[in-house]
Amino acid sequence: MTTAVKMFDLQSAAGPIGASISGLDLSEPVDDTTFSAIEDALNRHAVIVIRDNLLTAPQLAAFSRRFGSPQINVRKEARNADTPEIFWISNITENGKPVGSHDAGRYWHSDLCYLEAPSKLTLLNAIEVPARDGQVFGDTQFASATAAYDALPGAMKSRLDGLEAANGYRYMWNKKAHEFGLRPVLSEAELEARFPPDALHPIVRTHPVTGRKCLYVCEGYTHAIAGLPRDESDALLQELFDHLANPAFHYRHQWRVGDLLMWDNCAVQHKATNDYDLPLRRLMQRCTIEGTAPA
Ligand code: OGA
Ligand code: MN
Repeated sequence: MTTAVKMFDLQSAAGPIGASISGLDLSEPVDDTTFSAIEDALNRHAVIVIRDNLLTAPQLAAFSRRFGSPQINVRKEARNADTPEIFWISNITENGKPVGSHDAGRYWHSDLCYLEAPSKLTLLNAIEVPARDGQVFGDTQFASATAAYDALPGAMKSRLDGLEAANGYRYMWNKKAHEFGLRPVLSEAELEARFPPDALHPIVRTHPVTGRKCLYVCEGYTHAIAGLPRDESDALLQELFDHLANPAFHYRHQWRVGDLLMWDNCAVQHKATNDYDLPLRRLMQRCTIEGTAPA
């Protein structure tokens, strides 16, 4: 007789994506059965939060490595000095220096889409969460790229078939610099010297595990559809960005200290909520795992 072993509690969110897991301690290595169950939950729900895991950087790196190769972010000053695969996201300044990236995720995007091999998975662990009088700020929003693709009219699906678009870190850098003023505007030469060139990716990609089609254009990075005149490309991209912004596809994560949030960067896009400021502090540590080239 086999006995079903309950590895953790999982509660699905109301919409097409999102689930919450409790009863799991990630400070110690997890066994293979539990690990497979976590992977399975990710493939089903695309965004999962594992509650009550305030991890050290080495613990987060060790758990992340189970999923594949951690990526070292191009932004050196925002890396954890001792564990460079861990990247800081915060609104804190210490000794006159920003701790990590202060304007991460302000547009809808998929992580590291500007690389030939973008992130398949992101793990984001909350160390400090901004809150006042019981109200929590700095939620992270998610959109199902699968549900968004499925909901497109047939004519639009045909139009997108085979189209590719340029995804640029350099484009994103100056877009953010102009709009938020938290990073310096850089010249073309500086951008070229510091950051990788654009990556061309299909606008519709197929999920390597589930086989589902996903819409893969990012408001923050995708700036030109190959082979289309500029005005046509801009109009089509804007239409797709607006489509992804439909709340019917969304899950909104309200953070608690110790949340480990994990998301599948093919199946979802995400966006930070900029609704708080100092003295409310937010401090997150992140690891991204390299995926395959979108196809
Ligand atoms: C990220 C990101 C959004 C947030 O970590 O990749 O986009 O809410 N974060 O911090
Ligand atoms: Mn991100």
